[in-house]
Amino acid sequence: MTNGAGVAADFAAHFAAYVVIGNPIAHSKSPAIHARFAADTAQDMRYAHLLAPLDGFAATVQKFIAQGGRGANVTVPFKLEAYALANQLTTRAQAAGAVNTLIFDDGLILGDNTDGVGLVSDIVRNAGFDLAGKKILLLGAGGAARGVILPLLEQQPAQLTIANRTVAKAEELVQQFQQYCAQPGILSACSFADATQPFDLVINATSASLQAQLPPLAAGVFSPATLAYDMMYGSQPTVFMQFAAAQGAHVRDGLGMLVEQAAEAFFVWRGVRPHTDAVFAALRAQL
Ligand code: ATR
Repeated sequence: MTNGAGVAADFAAHFAAYVVIGNPIAHSKSPAIHARFAADTAQDMRYAHLLAPLDGFAATVQKFIAQGGRGANVTVPFKLEAYALANQLTTRAQAAGAVNTLIFDDGLILGDNTDGVGLVSDIVRNAGFDLAGKKILLLGAGGAARGVILPLLEQQPAQLTIANRTVAKAEELVQQFQQYCAQPGILSACSFADATQPFDLVINATSASLQAQLPPLAAGVFSPATLAYDMMYGSQPTVFMQFAAAQGAHVRDGLGMLVEQAAEAFFVWRGVRPHTDAVFAALRAQL
């Protein structure tokens, strides 16, 4: 599993070929994850890194398609460009406004988004935390937050509150996603200062953890029954997880979301659902 279009060309000629496209991309864990899925499910396929120039995403994708590529995962900074490039979109990609999975089929470029389903699978299945009837606080109103709103609403929570530093952006998301709500009043927006009551689930979808910053959250949003979920992951708990744990909350990072979004993409491409436990454990051991 190496970088570069040359490698992609070589293996696309011989195998059902998939890539993860980004810039930078060498750090991506996706090739290792998909290689393990393919081996476990006996799928005859190959999956590699593919570095696209910052100004050359579409050209890189088109070249890979011409070489016989069957699908691609898309990561930073190309998820919006992938959305624009797709000539057909799934409902969840449309709602997310971004694409992390592309399917190439006889001229069709289908754009999908498996991030939100990955988050929900990790919370519901892996953490055993049922979301029906729960009060959820979603922190952030950027691309990461937007990508998970529809799959969260599909779990029929009692309440989904979006808190953001720039409240207008959270309000905009509420407007956009109102149409997906089973009942009025489920979805609302607020500032960090206005979120003061305890929630069952608090999800950090801000990019604050990247800079080791903590969104200005009231300690009262957490209780010992709260699950605090950071979409980031690393070898150490994030500042958000540390703060939540200090209030007695259960904490979980986003490594499981990474594995589950990959499993969903694998399912979309191959029609086979891989087991994720062993891959998750192996990645955790390597962090
Ligand atoms: P991403 O694709 O990771 O979601 P983004 O679209 O740039 O990135 O959005 C970043 C999100 O993190 C935004 O909600 C941003 O808040 P603003 O909309 O007010 O900018 C939020 N964010 C970034 N740094 C933050 C910090 N230090 N504290 C709180 N929120 C922060």
